[in-house]
Amino acid sequence: MSRRARELGALNVGQGFPDYDIDPRLAELTAEAMRQGHNQYAPMEGVVELRERIARKLAASYGGEFDPQSQITVTLGATEAIYSAVQAVVGPGEEAIAFDPAYDSYEPAVRLAGGRCVRLPLMPPDFRYDWDRVRATIAPRTRLILFNTPHNPACTTATADDLDALAAITRDRDIVVLSDEVYEHVIFDGRVHASVLSHPELRQRSFAIFSFGKTLHATGLRVGYCVAPPELTGELRKVHQFNTFSIANPLQSAIAAYLVEKPQTGHELAGFFQAKRDRLCKALAGSGFALPPAQGTFFQLLDFGRLLPCGDLEFAERALTDARVATIPLSPFYAEPPQLSVVRLCIAKKDQTLDEAAARLADLGAKLRNS
Ligand SMILES: Cc1ncc(COP(=O)(O)O)c(C=O)c1O
Repeated sequence: MSRRARELGALNVGQGFPDYDIDPRLAELTAEAMRQGHNQYAPMEGVVELRERIARKLAASYGGEFDPQSQITVTLGATEAIYSAVQAVVGPGEEAIAFDPAYDSYEPAVRLAGGRCVRLPLMPPDFRYDWDRVRATIAPRTRLILFNTPHNPACTTATADDLDALAAITRDRDIVVLSDEVYEHVIFDGRVHASVLSHPELRQRSFAIFSFGKTLHATGLRVGYCVAPPELTGELRKVHQFNTFSIANPLQSAIAAYLVEKPQTGHELAGFFQAKRDRLCKALAGSGFALPPAQGTFFQLLDFGRLLPCGDLEFAERALTDARVATIPLSPFYAEPPQLSVVRLCIAKKDQTLDEAAARLADLGAKLRNS
């Protein structure tokens, strides 16, 4: 979609990356870190100052204590953390359960470990978990459940009841949870993020995965981290050590310094993105499209069902060629897609980009209503 958007000169509100500048202070601190000589290999598990800052940030958000030495590993974005965690616990012939629509790196990571990814659908329009179905799917060879909240691309958030169900299902079984929480701070309308780290039982058997790319509006930083109990961290590091070995030292040092200067980093994101979500939804009110308000993430779903009775791939093509707006259909995130009348829009964009995308989509809506 991004390539076709470029070719057609379309507005890209599909792929999830900000089109506005980062905080210039982060750029200054990165230059300073290089001038100060933080240019050689960082420790395999991550720069100590950064892991200490992460531990404080986690304790403030989720309570309890986090040991930077034995529980926190800095990774090459969340993607490497997902990959290394999967390799650490899934072996040949074993299974992992993921929920569709699933972030696209989950299944390849499981297959590269020699395992099989069993994908359970979250059904539109609500995309909620069917825990009875999960229970019925668990087999003696199930090693891992991949969980994601706030959820990309469904734009939903898990609840405390979901965490309890996940804990009950994995209790007394040799199953680990991988909780992808890269949008931990991007949660709307006063909801509270249901982190496995705030659930004392799940915390004992989970990898919780985060991304500074999301929190600092800089997806190109490629710095993330994984939080897990010491035994799981030990296994993850065996993979991480021979996969990436260590992560860019100046970036880690700069992020650590940034968190010292701005310890509240992340807490502004809910308000920032909620305002963008509301701006987009308001601009499209009355257009004929329905926009079920996103509960979290950088995204908002656009429901075209009342305007065009077609599949989401066809609608995305129409939006691209007729309205010159690139969106992301949800069916490619499913192993077996149901009938879907929604596409995903990225709200991590300048207000003017969102306004222009809304104007173009509203024109398309008017054209479809009149045809
Ligand atoms: C749900 C989810 N997990 C993981 C990632 C990857 O994060 P990173 O860019 O830090 O590798 C993304 C990025 O879009 C995502 O949406």
